[in-house]
Amino acid sequence: MPELKVLFSREQISQRVGELAAEISRDFAGESVIFIGVLKGATIFLSDLARQVSVDATFDFIGVSSYGNGKQSSGEVKLTKDVDQPLTGKNIILVEDILDTGLTMMYLRKMFLAHGPKSLKVAALLDKACRRTQPVQADYVGFVIPDEFVIGYGMDYAERYRNLADICVLHPDSEEAVNAKAAANHESVGANK
Ligand code: IMP
Repeated sequence: MPELKVLFSREQISQRVGELAAEISRDFAGESVIFIGVLKGATIFLSDLARQVSVDATFDFIGVSSYGNGKQSSGEVKLTKDVDQPLTGKNIILVEDILDTGLTMMYLRKMFLAHGPKSLKVAALLDKACRRTQPVQADYVGFVIPDEFVIGYGMDYAERYRNLADICVLHPDSEEAVNAKAAANHESVGANK
């Protein structure tokens, strides 16, 4: 197990997710929403958020992966799993674990708007605002964080650590943290998010 620092404890996460759920419940009072989670990182956030809203809700999931050319992220996002239903006239809430450069969100926003939804909102548990290269922002943000590689509560490093109950940061000098940072900056990022 690498050295981990807790960035947000399970109690802090639970409280903030409850606040976001209350906001969503207020904004969509009397309406139905469809939560669309981005696999796999957003699954735990989605399940906690959806269980705390008081509006009529359904779920769907979408899969994406990003590719780089080995030196730089290409910004190319590829759909690996589409939604299972028509979205025309629906209130979509796209649920992401982390809004980083914004490339994934730009791609997904464009794709979902083409379905002709009634509304499209974005809920991101974490926002690395300082890393953004695209003009996108989330409507519901859990926490704004600095440029650190985080794991836990659904988020992975090389598919591991998704099951940690707290959101943690790998010790900056650990081999995993160094590799993760290099991957985020230079190589293929987020394949199998
Ligand atoms: P974007 O397209 O650059 O905004 O990438 C967002 C995606 O990158 C997130 O949905 C995550 O899958 C992944 N990601 C970015 N930063 C981290 C991190 O610190 N830990 C784990 N995954 C991350």
